[in-house]
Amino acid sequence: MMNSLKADQHHHAVCIPYPAQGHITPMLKLAKLLHFKGFHITFVNTDFNHKRLLRSNGPDFLSDHHSPSFRFDTIPDGLPESDVDATQDTPTLCDSLRRNCLAPFRSLLSKLNSAVDSPPVSCIVSDGVMSFTFIAAKELGIPEVLFWTVTASTFLCYLHCDQLLQKGIIPFKDTSYLTNEYLERNTIDWIPGIKEFRLRDFPSFIKTTDPDDIMLQVLLEEVGRTKESNCAIILNTFDALEHDALQAISSILAPQIYTIGPLNLLSKYIIHDKDYMDTMGSNLWKEERECLKWLDTKDPNSVIYVNFGSITVMTSEQLVEFAWGLANSNHPFLWVIRPDLVAGDKAVLNQEFVTEIANRGMLSGWCPQEEVLGHPAIGGFLTHSGWNSTLESLSSGVPMICWPFFSDQPTNCRLCCKEWGVGLEIGGVVVRERVEELVRELMEGEKKGKELTKKALEWKKLAQDATAPDQNGSSFMNFDKLVRHLLGGDN
Ligand code: UDX
Repeated sequence: MMNSLKADQHHHAVCIPYPAQGHITPMLKLAKLLHFKGFHITFVNTDFNHKRLLRSNGPDFLSDHHSPSFRFDTIPDGLPESDVDATQDTPTLCDSLRRNCLAPFRSLLSKLNSAVDSPPVSCIVSDGVMSFTFIAAKELGIPEVLFWTVTASTFLCYLHCDQLLQKGIIPFKDTSYLTNEYLERNTIDWIPGIKEFRLRDFPSFIKTTDPDDIMLQVLLEEVGRTKESNCAIILNTFDALEHDALQAISSILAPQIYTIGPLNLLSKYIIHDKDYMDTMGSNLWKEERECLKWLDTKDPNSVIYVNFGSITVMTSEQLVEFAWGLANSNHPFLWVIRPDLVAGDKAVLNQEFVTEIANRGMLSGWCPQEEVLGHPAIGGFLTHSGWNSTLESLSSGVPMICWPFFSDQPTNCRLCCKEWGVGLEIGGVVVRERVEELVRELMEGEKKGKELTKKALEWKKLAQDATAPDQNGSSFMNFDKLVRHLLGGDN
């Protein structure tokens, strides 16, 4: 095994995630790993999310995490103050961050640098889409590493945005280009590292008719800065999973790429201490743990787990179709319905449904997902294909039914269903018959269902191999190289 490096607590890393659950979770895991390696850590949330973390996790949140060398700090996100526990609108938030956050971030760094009870900031680990931080790092002359929390394949699509523009493929000329028919018929075969993606499989932010679309502009700016900055890149993926995409990225970007995923497994392998692991919690909604007891009463591989992550918003019609599809499948299910899952209203399911599913359905508002996916009762996962959820599912060997909503999710869905052989796509309009059919196929299908489970278990083994210390796994080794990089040494 490689000799593990340790920092000496004179190294102070400021870790700053994009302010949403799917970014805070992996950044906190990375921050805890760096802390475990001896770094002094300041973890920066927005004021809005910091308040939510305190509310959802209870008053002990800060003391649970507290160590003189692991601290939380905050900056404002530039939006009006609010006390609601709901997801912020992505374009509005992205636009506000890039316009408003550099000045408070500078002030924060300057405060940290003049503090007498902590070492000066020696490096910044920033979310790839918070690249205003790079300007501050440059001013201080300290290294920055960018953590892009998506797959290598999605990152590769982002890196080619400018070429898609130059070739006149985006923005689309009119809304007829946004139909499934057009998006499925047209493929891109000239991006090395991804195999003939249909336009449908590309991240949602590039599929717009508006040249001034905020998300397209944000993407171009963030990717442009990543390219110019020459910063090292961190990806939460592993080499065996995305070999070709990673090779292609390496030939475009000169800097070092550190693949250290799945972070959920790496942190378990490196940090054995259970109490320390328990401080990894970063829920923005209050976690309900009763579902684990309910799962204990179920047979192995019998339950379909349903969760659409932290940002997906569906219509009440879609909710009802999912509900009856699940109920009619006759399989036990655990369904997490976030309080803000349904557009414009609280999620409501009628009494008839509640009575129908009484003995075999469990509803929850927010669950300990990693523990749920690792529970032996879970046989399949109906997911929105968020990257963290997908990786957590692969790490547990659980096959998926994919219903991508936006962002990188169409790309993750494509990878699961076509490249990795672990998913079935719902596609098109959600109707209960299709949901029922796919749940049955996944949970009881003698051919396809079994194949998907077999494949998922194979990926689980490869994910473990990548992160395991005793295997000298690629992610395990890369994490040590990342530590060396942040300490200012060579690889
Ligand atoms: C968003 C995007 O949707 C995703 O595609 C992108 O890669 C990251 O940002 P989100 O929609 O929240 O993330 O999905 P996902 O990436 O799956 O992250 C959700 C996280 O919340 C996961 O780590 C999951 O374990 C956790 N979670 C979710 C819970 O712990 N409990 C829940 O009930 C739901």
